[in-house]
Amino acid sequence: MIRIIPDVLDADGVARLRAILDAASWIDGNETSGPQAALAKRNEQLPEFSDAAAEAGRLVLDALGRTPLFIAAALPLKIYPPYFNRYAGGGTFGDHIDNAVRQRRGTDFRLRSDLSATLFLSEPDSYEGGGLVVEGMAEAPGIKLPAGHMVLYPATTVHRVEPVTSGTRIASFFWIQSMVRDQGQRNLLFDLDMGVQGAAMGLGQGDPTVVRLTGVYHNLLRRWADS
Ligand code: NI
Repeated sequence: MIRIIPDVLDADGVARLRAILDAASWIDGNETSGPQAALAKRNEQLPEFSDAAAEAGRLVLDALGRTPLFIAAALPLKIYPPYFNRYAGGGTFGDHIDNAVRQRRGTDFRLRSDLSATLFLSEPDSYEGGGLVVEGMAEAPGIKLPAGHMVLYPATTVHRVEPVTSGTRIASFFWIQSMVRDQGQRNLLFDLDMGVQGAAMGLGQGDPTVVRLTGVYHNLLRRWADS
């Protein structure tokens, strides 16, 4: 399921991040691709091990930690250190599927990609094209969100970024290994979580039904989660 996570970053957060990115030097995006993806990809990327990528990545991870909707939807066990990419002048990334297992070069950090995430860092009216099209769920023009908003989608899906025909599209992207590997279980937990929160607002946190349903949520998570 595609989930939009609004306001991961506020306007100040976006501006801070953009100041780092706009001052950095960028390289060909194919640096990090496998041979199949490289055929389809035409964009630029912040060098993975640069100071700018480290600093900007920290800002993104801090923001994710303060975003309860992201935690509820992804139930993250591990988050890959965020990448940053830039599309302009017809830049595009054709249909591809993300690698199932990502190993960070030169380290023992490894994750299974359950979810893919794109955090938009350019306002949608500042570029033409550049929509994220996810197989079976969105068609052209695809997903284009305000700067600071994020989309989460299953890493199992074929997806692409439509050509950016004018302006510049800057985004952060990364993968999440969820505590709950199965997408169906993860979706159930999310729906239950939202339902319990709604009930708690209406009935109060201490209401016996709310307490019981909260218990069901946690006991399902205990059954299904790896930690
Ligand atoms: Ni991808």
